[in-house]
Amino acid sequence: MRRAVVAANWKMHGSRTMVREYLSGLRGHALEHDRVQLVLCPPMVYLPALGGGLEPSLQAGLGAQDCSSESDDGAYTGEVSARMLADMGCKYVIVGHSERRERCYEDDARVAAKFLAAQSAGLTPILCVGETAEERDAGRAEQAVSRQFEAVIERAGAAGFHAALLAYEPVWAIGTGRSATPEIAQSMHALLRAALARRDAQTASKLRILYGGSVKTGNAASLFSQAEIDGALVGGASLVPEDLLAIAAAAAAGTD
Ligand code: 13P
Repeated sequence: MRRAVVAANWKMHGSRTMVREYLSGLRGHALEHDRVQLVLCPPMVYLPALGGGLEPSLQAGLGAQDCSSESDDGAYTGEVSARMLADMGCKYVIVGHSERRERCYEDDARVAAKFLAAQSAGLTPILCVGETAEERDAGRAEQAVSRQFEAVIERAGAAGFHAALLAYEPVWAIGTGRSATPEIAQSMHALLRAALARRDAQTASKLRILYGGSVKTGNAASLFSQAEIDGALVGGASLVPEDLLAIAAAAAAGTD
């Protein structure tokens, strides 16, 4: 049994008011901790307020949505290092999200450097991979995600995925309301796990592969019923704490 992970990616949403309301929405709730881990990734500026207000009984981990590829302090205006995130109580960081690959021109090499920087600071990277609609239509979905994954395996080694999470997020499913079918997600997850298993079968069998892209309360259970889907990276629906908790409960129920 792989313990599920449900991670909330708020993207660029939030305010101090929202943090307060969110915390009160989470208050008093407990999850089956042996079956699911909750991770919350708000915008960086809200990390202290959100992290500081979480009830210990929820056992939620704090994560950032990005980090610098530079590990050492220096003249990198606007950047935040993985060490700083760890210093602020983060345990996780998303790297290689498609919105950063696309909008901030992050290439595979930069994503791999961020993955390594995160691990050397003691953070668990959540590596995102996913194909665009054009790539899927052209029959190149497998090739695109394999390339993104291999670029990180090459730098970090298969053993680097011992303490990391992988998220399959097809770009065409993000924020569109059009989730991948459970069958598509299952087959892409299987492909990714097999790629790692060719190098290190044990690490591959333990790797948690999350699905992301229009996960909602209504489709979570059918996604989690797939053996290769070990949780979710949730965008829009994670802005509502009750929805996030319902998705986490569905992940706990789907773990066997
Ligand atoms: P949505 O759940 O809003 O589609 O976003 C998915 C995502 O990009 C999570 O990282």
